[in-house]
Amino acid sequence: MHILHVVGARPNFMKAAPVMRALSLLPGVRQTLVHTGQHYDANMSDVFFQELEIPAPDVNMQVGSGSHAQQTAEIMTRFEPVVLEHKPDLVLVYGDVNSTVAALLVCSKLLVRVGHVEAGLRSFDRTMPEEVNRLVTDQLSDLLFTPSEDGNRNLAREGIDASKVHLVGNVMIDTLIRMLPRAAERLQSWLPDRFALVTLHRPSNVDDLPWLVQMLETLQQIGRDVMVVFPVHPRTRQRLAEAGVNRFAANHLRLLDPLPYLDFLALQTRATLVITDSGGVQEESTYLGIPCLTVRENTERPITVDMGTNILVGRDLGRVRSEFESIVSGHPKGGARPPLWDGKAAGRIAQIVCGKC
Ligand code: UD1
Repeated sequence: MHILHVVGARPNFMKAAPVMRALSLLPGVRQTLVHTGQHYDANMSDVFFQELEIPAPDVNMQVGSGSHAQQTAEIMTRFEPVVLEHKPDLVLVYGDVNSTVAALLVCSKLLVRVGHVEAGLRSFDRTMPEEVNRLVTDQLSDLLFTPSEDGNRNLAREGIDASKVHLVGNVMIDTLIRMLPRAAERLQSWLPDRFALVTLHRPSNVDDLPWLVQMLETLQQIGRDVMVVFPVHPRTRQRLAEAGVNRFAANHLRLLDPLPYLDFLALQTRATLVITDSGGVQEESTYLGIPCLTVRENTERPITVDMGTNILVGRDLGRVRSEFESIVSGHPKGGARPPLWDGKAAGRIAQIVCGKC
């Protein structure tokens, strides 16, 4: 069986790595890896391949940045001949990025079967580009692998045949569990005992400059109590430059370049709390039991709120401050690990894929 994987953006890499590894253990499986090049900076892409020991891509389409239409169209145009040449039996796509939906559309028209890893997540907010990508990808996929029960419920509500849907658990947590021992070796000598780890990159947060400035002011205030460590996504870096970043950088607010996986995980395991708008960080902090404040009105990962340590603070900086106070005064929300977030999700996917060989 020939399986072709499509990855393109940073959060895809930690999801594809364990699935490729699990499939490589099965006889009769040949794998091809296609990198769309949606993310291209070394610290957004190459370093993840090295640390996660992902084989070099067989094809790198180097699409780069652009508007959503440009990026999606460019991926489709360059991916169609790749599929025609490689003739895979199944294409696996990951998450909710533009690369995912673009590859799915190409395969659907060529009648090539697609499996979607991380299916069924819904924020119910169609102003998010990722939500559009999720809806389209799930409607057209042949195999849907969900990380939690809420995903199965969402897909059933949208009329997707239950026979295509498999609850497998969370592949991102597979990678986290595998990498934890190595992350523990990444000591950051400059880190104090207590610090807040911040990531912000959603367009709804960082493309709104007055709001971005208000968030930075709040982070500065928090920085007077505990150090704030903020690895800055390229999109956010561009916006901060427009907002006059130098007004904010200070000893107690450390603005860093995007970090490699192991360094970021090392910080996450030791953080007093995380403040984020990322999907993956909501999940990782729930697994690690680290308090998480999510600066969004909604989440496609409600299990991290219902079961885990995540609190949706919305666009309310007063709430950020008050939840921060609760955490640093020793009264965090607490939480538990969701079922099947056990390091074995990719193995389940491999078994199901090969059962359909
Ligand atoms: C994308 C995903 C988002 C995911 C995020 C993780 C979509 C719609 N969004 O958002 O779901 O959470 O990746 O990082 O697919 N840039 C660089 N270097 C890079 C990559 C991007 O400088 O290596 C800059 C580009 O100039 C671009 C901006 O960052 O303008 C945003 O990149 P883009 O791929 O459009 O989306 P992300 O915001 O990264």
